[in-house]
Order: sequence, then structure tokens, then C-alpha cells
Amino acid sequence: MGHQATAAELPPHVLIFPLPMQGHINSMLKLAELLCLSNLHVTLLLSDFTHGRLRRHANIESLFSRYPGFRIATIPDGLPDDHPRVGEKTMEIVLSLLKVGGAEFRKLMETTDALSDGGARRRVNCLIMDGVLSFAVPVVEEMGIPFIYFRTVGACSFWANFCFKEVIEAGEVPLRGKDEDKYTYWKKPEFDLMVTSIPGMEGYLRRRDLPAFCRVTDVNDSGFQTIIRETRRTALSKGLILNSFEDLEGPILDQIRKPIPNLYSIGPLHTHLKARLESQNGESLLASGSFYEEDRSSIAWLDSQPANSVIYVSFGSVTLLTRDELLEFWYGLVNSGHRFLWVMRPDSIVGKDKEKVVPLELEEGTKERGYMVGWVPQNEVLAHPSIGAFFTHSGWNSTIESVAAGLPMICWPYFADQTINSRFVSDVWKVGLDMKDSCDRVIIEKMVREIMEERRDEFLERARNMAELAKKAISEGGTSYTNLKRLIEFIKSSV
Ligand code: UDX
Repeated sequence: MGHQATAAELPPHVLIFPLPMQGHINSMLKLAELLCLSNLHVTLLLSDFTHGRLRRHANIESLFSRYPGFRIATIPDGLPDDHPRVGEKTMEIVLSLLKVGGAEFRKLMETTDALSDGGARRRVNCLIMDGVLSFAVPVVEEMGIPFIYFRTVGACSFWANFCFKEVIEAGEVPLRGKDEDKYTYWKKPEFDLMVTSIPGMEGYLRRRDLPAFCRVTDVNDSGFQTIIRETRRTALSKGLILNSFEDLEGPILDQIRKPIPNLYSIGPLHTHLKARLESQNGESLLASGSFYEEDRSSIAWLDSQPANSVIYVSFGSVTLLTRDELLEFWYGLVNSGHRFLWVMRPDSIVGKDKEKVVPLELEEGTKERGYMVGWVPQNEVLAHPSIGAFFTHSGWNSTIESVAAGLPMICWPYFADQTINSRFVSDVWKVGLDMKDSCDRVIIEKMVREIMEERRDEFLERARNMAELAKKAISEGGTSYTNLKRLIEFIKSSV
């Protein structure tokens, strides 16, 4: 008869709970795989809606055969299935979860005896959770389960959010006026004033670079206050995980260590995982976590382009463009004369405007030098030899993926943490240009030329140096490598 493992012999069991959004799930899924590779049992907690998306468009189920210790659990997010879940409406996912999440999470944990699978697994002994999910805390505290936060943003944005109270006290927010026009309002010189209230960021952060959560008319705004409250709560946990690395954000990570000493910077997670898969299994194919169908014709198109000739354009999973913005980008790209691969999600244009006729010169310019698709395998695209630069909305995943690929960036931050990420790209790491608060075909054309031709060498040199440092961080003995080891030790010690 086979030996039935006693509870004490079962591996530690980690519950990973991301916000049910593409950017958050992407990085948390990579962490889940890394922990599985270290023989931990892992349950990934998704919303029913995102689970459905992943089953339709990603090969997430392949993880069950790859890792026998991997499971998925789900709870509802409280929104109807036809909710758009993009643009400003993404905040409604958070608000809805805050309303229904506590009861749903409790029900899940209690009815399954902390996901112990009838004794086949240990009860969850550590929760790794995203920000803004603090409703889970009373439940795990009652069950004696320690929790760690994994914030899927950069250290720069996390730290700025952590300091929002001080930013308010210094009178550096609110930033928004009533009824302003989207672009003319932000041209005001007062937004170029330096922020003085965030330790470690003096000298390069302007008010317009603050995380876009500060773009409120009133500091008592409930969304803004939720961010402040939830971010401060991170200090009550046993630790904080960030998808970053010491050579990229060291000085800011050191600031965070003052209130949160137990900090694990383990990024870039996708290359970290790739390296582990290669060394342990001899393979490096990453599972997709995409909410959309990946169009592989993009890779075939890239294969037929000259080296370093294409600018990859993508604004992530939730950005919305108006028709006016769409046309500015389109004219800017076509007029630059450079080749471009542009991801245009099917749900990314506001209203029915996308059905309007496209000017002939754009159609012709695109036929000649461009390719547009609904969704791509982004990391494969970024690593493709034909890609020369990344035109991005500066979501944190896109930023760190671009850093790891050694690509210069043009940044058009849309909201949330992106306004501060783009400032770090342009003024701290100096690996790109920041076009925040504008959307003008002339500027776009000029920036594309600058990044692809005129200042190419200087950007490329710095970007490639940073990519080397990223590689060093995840290699044996590197900072991210060592921090991941430390994290696994912590999880093992909390059984
Ligand atoms: C959001 C926030 O904007 C981001 O800043 C935050 O840290 C996480 O949540 P999102 O706007 O989607 O995420 O941007 P980003 O963080 O860049 O994540 C997008 C992800 O989708 C990336 O991992 C990217 O590789 C992937 N992607 C994007 C694809 O796989 N294919 C595509 O065609 C486009």
C-alpha cells in the first residue's frame, strides 16, 4: 500500500490572490509558477469572470499537468458579465470586490477548510495578496494564516502612494480642476512644480508625474482615500513582494524598507521564471495568462521585417482611446516613416467611433509599413530582433518587460501608476521619452524619430545596460534570485 502523507509531510500551501485584472494576474501567475517550481502547493484565486477569460484565451489549464501542486479557486467579483471592465470603469472592479469580496472570501475559506482538499493538501499556510484586498485580512487572521502583500506596481509608484498623506499635508494635491479640458488643462506650468514631500524623490518628480490617483478635485475623494488607506495597511503584513530589482529601483526600495523591512524584490518575474524553467526542466515556454486571443501572425509579420526596424505600440489591457487620440497616434506613426506593430484591442476605442472611415493616407501608410492586431504574445514580441523600441502606456508590467528586453520606450501614460513610471523611464533611468499630458501627431512623429534614429544610440546603450543588470538580478546569487529564496524560506517557516 502507498504511503499516505501525514499533514506534517505535506508541502507548504500558498494562496495567491491577485486583483482580477490582466496586469495583476500576469505577474502573480509568474510568481505562482516560481513557487510551484520550488515544490510548494499553490492555489491561485481568480474571479469567475477572469477564470472564464483565461480558459477561453490562455493555456492556463496546461499548468495542472506541469505542476501537480497547482490549483485554481474562484469567487464572483460582483459585477455582471457584460460590465466593460476597461478604462476608468476598472475602478468599479475594485469597489465591487470591496463590497462582496469579504463575504465571498470567508465562505470559500470556511467551506473548504482553508482549501485543504479533504486533507490532500495542507490548509493554506500563507496568503500572498494584491493591494486593495484587505477584506481578506480578518478572515486569515482568525484562521492564524500569515499574509504578505504583492503589489504589482513599481517601487516608485508604491512608495509615492505610501506617502500620499504627506503629499496632501504639503498641499501638493489635489491636481484636478472642475470641467477642465483633458489636454489644455494639463499644460499649466503649476504642474511642473517639483514635489517635495516624498522622501527619495526630491529633485525629479513634478506634480504632473504623481500617480494619476492624485488627479482628483478633492482629497476626500473615496477612490483616493481607499488607495491611501490600503497602501498604508501594507506595513501591517509580514512582508511585501515587488516585481522589480535592486539595480533598477534600489534607492526607492531602501525608502520602503524603513516602514516595511521585510521586502522581497524578485523581478523581472517573467525572465526569472523563464530562467528557472530552463535550468530545472530544460524548457522555457511560459504559460500564457492572456485575457484575449494572441494573434501569432504578428510574429510571422515581424519575421519578415529588418532588424531593429519596428516600433511596437501597445497600451495594455485597459486603456481606452477616443477617435481623436487614435488618429493622432496613427498620423504620428505613419508620418514618422517607421515600421510599426500596433496592438489595438477590440474593446479599446471609445464608443462606436472605430466604425468610422479611416483616411486613405493612413490606410496606405499602414499597408506599406504597419501591422495591426488585437493582442500579441507581448514578451515574444519584445524579444524579437525586428523590434527597435516600445511605444507604451507605461503599465508596470510593460515597463519591466521592456527593461528586461533592453528596449528604449516612448511613454504615453494613461492613468493610475503609469504617470510616475513614465517619469522614471525618462528622467531616472533615461531609457526613453515621456509624452504625458499630450496627444499630438507632430510630437508623436518627432518622438518616434528621436527614439528610432536621432538619439537611438544613447537610449539603446542605457537600455541594454539595464537589461544586463536585470539579467544579473535573476541569475544565481543575484538580488532577485536571493530574495525569492528568502521568500520561499519564509513560506516554509510559517507552516
Ligand atoms: C494595469 C496597470 O496599468 C499597471 O500599471 C499595473 O501595474 C497593473 O495593472 P495594464 O494597464 O494592463 O495593467 O498594463 P501592464 O501592467 O503593462 O500589463 C499588461 C500586460 O499584458 C503585460 O504583461 C503585457 O505583456 C500583456 N500584453 C499586453 C500582452 O500579453 N499582449 C498584448 O497584446 C498587450
